[in-house]
Amino acid sequence: MNSYRATPENLAAPPIPAFEYRGALVTQRQEILAAFERVLDSGCLILGPEVRAFEQAFAQFVGAAHATGVSSGTDALIIALRALEIGPGAEVITVANGPVPTIAAIRAVGATPRFVDIDAHTLQMSPQLAAQAINAQTRCILPVHLYGYPANINALLELCQQHRLVLIEDCAQAHGTYVAANHVSRHVGTFGAIGCFSFYPTKNLGAFGDAGMCVTDDPQLAERLRELACYGFRGDRVAHREGLNCRLDELQAAALNVRLKYLPAALARRQAIAQRYRDGLASDWRPLPPTAPGDTAAWHQFVVRVADRVALIQYLAAQGIDVGIHYASPVHIMPAYQFLGYEPGSLPSTEQACQQGLSLPIYPELTDSQVDRVVAALDYLDKSTSGFQIARP
Ligand SMILES: Cc1ncc(COP(=O)(O)O)c(C=O)c1O
Repeated sequence: MNSYRATPENLAAPPIPAFEYRGALVTQRQEILAAFERVLDSGCLILGPEVRAFEQAFAQFVGAAHATGVSSGTDALIIALRALEIGPGAEVITVANGPVPTIAAIRAVGATPRFVDIDAHTLQMSPQLAAQAINAQTRCILPVHLYGYPANINALLELCQQHRLVLIEDCAQAHGTYVAANHVSRHVGTFGAIGCFSFYPTKNLGAFGDAGMCVTDDPQLAERLRELACYGFRGDRVAHREGLNCRLDELQAAALNVRLKYLPAALARRQAIAQRYRDGLASDWRPLPPTAPGDTAAWHQFVVRVADRVALIQYLAAQGIDVGIHYASPVHIMPAYQFLGYEPGSLPSTEQACQQGLSLPIYPELTDSQVDRVVAALDYLDKSTSGFQIARP
């Protein structure tokens, strides 16, 4: 346990935001501006060399044969589902403790999400419950590697193989997440038929706007994804299949080409911060458990769980520490999805995780002393079963 205690001096220190991208600009600004200028001067803003270069580099980063840049993580999921011909009448097994876009994508193709509860420790899809949810309509299992923590992908892949289902991985939060299979660690997104990534600005690899990517090892699927992302065109202006416009643009790709070079160092820093939180925090804050040997969590978020989240947020805010909630409301009981028929209480671990989870600041530019301030602030509290009391004013 860290013996450091919050002092008036520390309370007077500059606020710690929950997320901050501008710190990265200190080292990357000139390169990013040069990349933007290169694009502006090139006369090519759509489907040019920056997109192609980023697709190749990102495919290499995750160890996939093909990558298709798209305009967001949501679009990546939509065209992945479309490419695998999952639509009306099909059920897609997924989780409700993640963000809305995963579900919005399933609905956008006309399929029906079938929610299963999560493992209460890892907060990832329970393979046992997924197995129980399979029925004649099930076509796909779509786990989310939530917080960059690996879902139990080997068990889910086995289920898919047993029941002839397709596996699509939502890797929007999981750049840098690895899972061991047959003693080899592989990047997530390479286990399923298609892996879907987001480069939303807060992600481990963030653009300066919306951007996303589908990865696959299957050349035919790759071709289909490329067509779907651009009106069904095959390099011509003829719609060979019904497609969309969800292309990655050159400006975002140019920035991502620069930022990808810094990703390994950024991921290493996330690991170090997560470890510092782990070393400093008492176990009853219930962070996610250490990963299995050979697996790596990318620590997109560092989530702890508390009974009285509201009081804790207020207390931390008073000390200048901003936190996040990912996610306050489980999707299965949101108004838009009530027609699916899930009642409160139907997914108990999901609902509890959404009530109790709190994301501590974690981003590469967070300094050790800032991490220590967060640890000290939490350490400062008396904990009781009835909630939290601030030990000293
Ligand atoms: C788990 C998950 N899936 C999908 C998405 C959608 O990505 P985007 O915001 O790029 O559309 C996000 C990000 O918001 C996400 O966190």
